[in-house]
Amino acid sequence: MALYAIGDLHLSLTADKSMEVFGPAWKDYVSRIEASLSRLTAEDVLVLAGDTSWGIDMAEAEADFRFLDRFPCRKLLLKGNHDYWWSTVSKMNAFFAEKGFTTFSFLHNSCHVYGSHAICGTRGWFFEEDQKPHDAKVLNREVGRLETSLRAAEGRPIWCFLHYPPLYQGYECREILEVLARYPVELCCYGHLHGPAIRRRFVGEQGGTTFSLISADHLGFIPKKICD
Ligand SMILES: [Fe+2]
Ligand SMILES: [Fe+2]
Repeated sequence: MALYAIGDLHLSLTADKSMEVFGPAWKDYVSRIEASLSRLTAEDVLVLAGDTSWGIDMAEAEADFRFLDRFPCRKLLLKGNHDYWWSTVSKMNAFFAEKGFTTFSFLHNSCHVYGSHAICGTRGWFFEEDQKPHDAKVLNREVGRLETSLRAAEGRPIWCFLHYPPLYQGYECREILEVLARYPVELCCYGHLHGPAIRRRFVGEQGGTTFSLISADHLGFIPKKICD
């Protein structure tokens, strides 16, 4: 039994948006995901840190979830900026039940207990979002979701998963970092950074939390092991 995490699978089995156009890092990425996820067992837990499917709705994402559901590990999904299929947890759970997909749960205003730790997370916030209108409202909502998830840990040590990096060369999201600092967050993994942006990632410790990038192309499509 082990806990793994990876972000940004960007599956596109129905939607015509293969990531292979982004160069050699993405070559044969679906086969590489297939090879690495095949090694996980039904006792393993895999956090998928957003940008899981390019599908614009559940119908278009169905083939991507069918592909993922074939691997027996339990999968915890959180939302990325490209997960347009995301709706309400009850609607998404109903869709999975109707299709007979049994391996998915959501990390959304909630936490999951793993051994003595809690797995928490939400989409988060990044400077790209600052350029959009009504950003304060959306930022506050994300900060609230993060706090709800961290509070649900009820004092357990926390592994937190965000889609957006709260720290980046020349950028930090103070609102998100302040919430993280108020809880016993040992590790914060994030995705979203691809290609040349990976160079500007923050890796290391700040305020008692270790930060780590888990976007799929950065990990070579092999999920990072968080804990046995
Ligand atoms: Fe992404
Ligand atoms: Fe993203």
